[in-house]
Amino acid sequence: MRYSDDIIEEVRMKNDIVDVISQYVKLTRRGSSYFGLCPFHNEKTPSFSVTPSKQMYYCFGCGAGGNVYNFIMEYENYSFGEALSHLADRAGVELPKIEYSREAREKAEQRANLLEINKLAAQYFYYQLRREGGKTAYGYLTGRGLSEETIRKFGLGYSDKYSDDLYKYLKGKGYSDELLRESGLFNVDERRGMYDKFWNRVIFPIMDVNNRVIGFGGRVMGDGKPKYLNSPETKIFDKSRNLYGLNVARTTRKNYLILCEGYMDVIAMHQAGFTNAVASLGTALTSGHASLVKRYTKEVLLLYDSDGAGIRAALRAIPILREAGVTSRVVSLKPWKDPDEFIKNEGAEAFEERLARAMDSFMFRVHIAEQEFAMDAPQGQNQFFERCAGMLLELSDELERNLYIEAIVKEYGRYGVGTEDIRKRVNTLALKGTPAEKRIQPKSGTPETKKKESAADKAQKLMLTWLVNYPGIFEQVEKYISPSDFVVPLYKEVAQMLFEQHKEGETNPGKLLNAFTDSEEQREVASLFNATIHLENEGEQQRAFSDALLRIKEESLKEKNRTWDPSDMAGLQELIKAKKELEDLGRKRQQLHISFN
Ligand code: UTP
Ligand code: MN
Repeated sequence: MRYSDDIIEEVRMKNDIVDVISQYVKLTRRGSSYFGLCPFHNEKTPSFSVTPSKQMYYCFGCGAGGNVYNFIMEYENYSFGEALSHLADRAGVELPKIEYSREAREKAEQRANLLEINKLAAQYFYYQLRREGGKTAYGYLTGRGLSEETIRKFGLGYSDKYSDDLYKYLKGKGYSDELLRESGLFNVDERRGMYDKFWNRVIFPIMDVNNRVIGFGGRVMGDGKPKYLNSPETKIFDKSRNLYGLNVARTTRKNYLILCEGYMDVIAMHQAGFTNAVASLGTALTSGHASLVKRYTKEVLLLYDSDGAGIRAALRAIPILREAGVTSRVVSLKPWKDPDEFIKNEGAEAFEERLARAMDSFMFRVHIAEQEFAMDAPQGQNQFFERCAGMLLELSDELERNLYIEAIVKEYGRYGVGTEDIRKRVNTLALKGTPAEKRIQPKSGTPETKKKESAADKAQKLMLTWLVNYPGIFEQVEKYISPSDFVVPLYKEVAQMLFEQHKEGETNPGKLLNAFTDSEEQREVASLFNATIHLENEGEQQRAFSDALLRIKEESLKEKNRTWDPSDMAGLQELIKAKKELEDLGRKRQQLHISFN
């Protein structure tokens, strides 16, 4: 469902950006803007600005920026629809009702009912844990080192020794057998009918990113089998698209997530202060998990158990993450089995240190490979380097590949290999066209090679910023430049919108940003309106202005030259004219006076 531009704009206008952001960030007025500590990166001095006249925010430190929608989306990790309904609520704007088909309505209703059932069940278990009959279970949890606060925070509970009490409780609330069966909370058999799935277990409610209970895990207290019983997948519980703990981890403003194996790992880590830990739920990591992770971070620390299964799990997870554009590093917990044990024995500080020493995932794979070969004999060494070459061949980026060749030589140079040897090996293998392992192409074009901003780009940005900050200069600027002179496609699009807005009355950068829903684009557009350059006095300002103007025209002409079709005579005339104009401009640059007031 798409809402109309009018509604989107109305909601935006009714949510003053300073009011909204003040609820999250402490802002102090400085001139015509407000400043505060950026919520999107760690900093000690405020470089995060909110400008009421533009209805925009922009961080001069990390480049985060946009209008009020972008802020809510980025801060709360909301989709556009969620941000819209949040802000509409806040401003008391009623969004038009969506007309659903009967089928869609029924589906939505069923989902809502299932969520309701799960919520009631979670409350029921939570309550049981605190009753007389729950004493052993409570003792089990505290015996494993969990504090009351942690138990509360994760909503842990207990399913008692009666096998039909939850069923009766929910029946009493009026739910049909059919719906209860869909909830996954009950077993059905011919003889006994419907009965509770969880019986005498401590309960771990599983929540989605919006803190809604979507399923449960139940652990035996002791050594029974199976150790954990989990809700089956249901209409609201998709195991390959949910991560335990993500509802909390997503709000911690760390730039990486810690991915581990189980419920207890996550809980132990959160209790020790590592609130960015999550776990996949009794399933191996899937690409669904990876793209979920990608919504929140670009880096993951893998913290699997230090046994063979844990290593295999890490080796499987690395390429899945990489394919989604998430880099990973692997943390060693040796000699301890899992994070829970590690923290209990060595404490949070030592754990922090291990995280800091996490191994690059490529080098982790190299190390694991090393263990497969008899490295004390030339044959084994040779096979090992052959394997390395195969792995290097998977890397499509040459710089990245060279860096890893260096790293391998640094570590294994003692076997007498140099960078050239390995490079040759890789090339030979490439010619054979049979990479040892499947070639993996990162989807999002990682690794990122950030292009350095050219002077011409900067000039275009500055001009857009000035046009927004000093609308008075529009009349002058229009004499020389049109939107088509902005050669960077995104800048051109923005310039067109800005010139259009000016024609219709006044520029409105906050509104303009509504058009950009891609978060990278938003950032860029926000940066366009916040370009800065240090100017001492009016003279420098004038010079900067004429420089920028000329630079833009020059670049525009170059671009026209590049794209000019030789058979287009009229085009040629225009080119010549443009060239002459540029020369004229250059000559009278002293007269390009403009008032920035
Ligand atoms: P672990 O056996 O490592 O469990 O399995 P754990 O989380 O460390 O729990 P404790 O410390 O032994 O109590 C890792 C994860 O695999 C899934 C669970 O999600 C568990 O947290 N699992 C394990 C199951 O789903 N069923 C099982 O029988 C065992
Ligand atoms: Mn474990």
